[in-house]
Amino acid sequence: PTVYSLSAFAEGFPIGVAVSEWNIRNESISNIVIQHFTQVTAENIMKPEVLQPSEDSFDFEKSNELVNFAQTNGISIHGHTLVWHNQSPAWMQGCNDVLDCTNTMNNHITKVVQHFAGEVDSWDVVNEAFLQDGSYRGSADTNDGIAWVEKIGKDYISKAFITARAADTSAELYYNDYNLAFNDAKIDAVITLVEDMKAAETPIDGIAFQMHVTDTYPTIENISAAFQKAVDTGLKVKLSELDVRMNLSGEATALTEVIATAQKNRYAEIIEAYLAVVPKKQRGGISVWGVSDQDSWLSTNENNHPDWPLMFDGDLNQKPAILGFADAMLNE
Ligand code: G3I
Repeated sequence: PTVYSLSAFAEGFPIGVAVSEWNIRNESISNIVIQHFTQVTAENIMKPEVLQPSEDSFDFEKSNELVNFAQTNGISIHGHTLVWHNQSPAWMQGCNDVLDCTNTMNNHITKVVQHFAGEVDSWDVVNEAFLQDGSYRGSADTNDGIAWVEKIGKDYISKAFITARAADTSAELYYNDYNLAFNDAKIDAVITLVEDMKAAETPIDGIAFQMHVTDTYPTIENISAAFQKAVDTGLKVKLSELDVRMNLSGEATALTEVIATAQKNRYAEIIEAYLAVVPKKQRGGISVWGVSDQDSWLSTNENNHPDWPLMFDGDLNQKPAILGFADAMLNE
């Protein structure tokens, strides 16, 4: 069986995919994007190191290409990401004091969000601010990136959202992080942040769960419970970077039918949990982190053994996973 258009099954929320500049220049891959998805996220080319390689000098060339591709094909854009410790240019590290660093951060947000105003529909404003124990990520855990909390203070997050809203009043603003679906300390830290922001009338529209998961972990009960906590804030809930690792141990050497079927069921149960827990008006959408297994960050960066986390194989054939995704939406 073939899925003709994954997004055709989604009622009222975007189904997205992360893409590189090479993906949209490749006809076979871009055709898959157009056929199945209604939203794209830039996998790397809207990150600070790409957009502002040196101070106050912005490079929008690749991202403008993505915007053109999206607009030509009626696809919306989720912007990723304005403030992050990783993939930020080294010069940003050099900001001096709270005022200088705040200006550096705000200037980046303002110029980028204004540039894409009316083109980017939603932003990951702040990415990965918390550690597993719910504390703020400091310089010990930034891998030579920028520990914004040490540069500016805990209110850097609120400042970033306020600045983003001022730069484009209609883009939706998300806080984005990983491991939110199994780690109570981490999801609770995010919920506390969001409640504090709401109390202070700081703009924020949604919580984005990256959802880099494995075949068995976290349990579906944990995932549903974490979605529920986010739903209870009243904000939108987005799955922003979904992929399902099937070979964490590295024991498998090939994608067998057994693995592919297990993955199909895993995609299905995650989408089902999202649809069951998140009310229609709070659905920010679901995006997968790449088109094909061959392009996945898990094949290129993370692993020294094969894995098959996405819905298309290395030859761009559909895998059972896409059926699991579609079935879950069809059965709602
Ligand atoms: O473009 C450079 C190239 O110039 C250089 O010569 C080469 C050598 O290292 O690296 C290329 O950059 C790589 C870049 O991807 C573009 O391909 C980086 O090394 C590599 O580290 C980078 O990885 C990205 C990773 O974020 C960085 O943290 C992945 O593609 C991207 O999928 C991944 O995405 C993150 C999200 O932004 C946040 N959530 C987690 C997710 C997965 O890690």
